[in-house]
Amino acid sequence: MGDNFISIVIPTYNERDNIVPLVERISRTLNNHNYEILLVDDNSQDGTVDVAAKLAEKYPVKVLVRANERGLATAVLHGFKYARGNVVGVMDADLQHPPEVNAALLKAIENGADMVVASRYIPGGGCPNWGLTRRIISKGALSLAHIFLPSTRQVKDPMSGYFMFRRDGLDQVEFKPIGYKILLEMLVMGKFQHVVEVPFIFEDRSSGASKMKARQQIDYLKHIFSLMRRKGELKRLLRFIGVGLSGVIVNEGILWILTDLVGIRYYISSLGAIEASIISNFILNDYFTFADRRTGKIGSFFSRLLKFNVVCAAGAAIQYGILVLLTSVVGINYLISNLIGILIAFIWNYFFSLFWTWK
Ligand code: GDD
Ligand code: MN
Repeated sequence: MGDNFISIVIPTYNERDNIVPLVERISRTLNNHNYEILLVDDNSQDGTVDVAAKLAEKYPVKVLVRANERGLATAVLHGFKYARGNVVGVMDADLQHPPEVNAALLKAIENGADMVVASRYIPGGGCPNWGLTRRIISKGALSLAHIFLPSTRQVKDPMSGYFMFRRDGLDQVEFKPIGYKILLEMLVMGKFQHVVEVPFIFEDRSSGASKMKARQQIDYLKHIFSLMRRKGELKRLLRFIGVGLSGVIVNEGILWILTDLVGIRYYISSLGAIEASIISNFILNDYFTFADRRTGKIGSFFSRLLKFNVVCAAGAAIQYGILVLLTSVVGINYLISNLIGILIAFIWNYFFSLFWTWK
């Protein structure tokens, strides 16, 4: 038994039949600890609140009811305001998050973690009962976060709804989540130094229905966009696009000078023009787009330049391959094929710039 006081915050919406076994299993798990359970209910009409009030007679349960608001993430934030623990946990009410995993989460905190995530995507974890579609959507959503919010890359399952953290990580941080993914918001905006993951198996819902609808998928995209804006990642993306466009001007200009003024054949001078635009793109990106990731040493400057060349060369090959494939094999108009090629090469270049050149 440590000195920690643990607040488990649980958003509920129409979970009448789940909260009794839920609370029983949590108390069995945290039996030897000081803890409280905060159920944050958005005015469920199925009797959840009455059942919860009954539970509060026997267990350290508090029931917070929000009358005029709906939303998983904001319900969790509401719970944080009332949580008294120096350690705070968050989990779902529907038993898809096995309450026993709280023991492993707490252990990780006791071993020095500031934030511990119950993770489906590390060895030992998973969601064995999911169909292919849900798997693909989940992995797609995960990749979006990893690409566009680089600070989430250290965590394999930043979309988990099951986690525990030290309360100090909340200090002086403003959270503005949209939709479901409160952990994502906390990982990107919060100040958690030491983040670890513990595996868990995402179970089937034992009763009631999921509240996840198409609406939540759209909210998720909005949330990613909002986090990108707040973290300067949107600015970075726009700068990368701007630099790319400036490269077109450099390329055309050098091509014209070498061909018309110097008198070199266009298919030779084009090679110089391409390299010139790669170098000018590199310098602009190094000082502008990725200024915060530049290390400053001259040797690493050249190693980044080399990497950028490799990425761009591969990008050009991809663009060319797609142009030929879509035009000759699929039969799409060559200008449209080229545009698709440019778009895919752009994503390629951005991805590898973030993950490799300026990692
Ligand atoms: N207070 C409140 N208000 N609670 C809500 C609301 C709401 O508007 N919507 C959902 N909840 C509660 C549910 O009662 C449940 O306890 C928990 O939040 C999760 O809701 P589900 O509807 O069961 O979500 P899910 O199973 O589809 O999604 C879960 O798994 C995802 C991973 O795939 C959540 O944990 C997500 O956060 C997680 O990303
Ligand atoms: Mn669920």
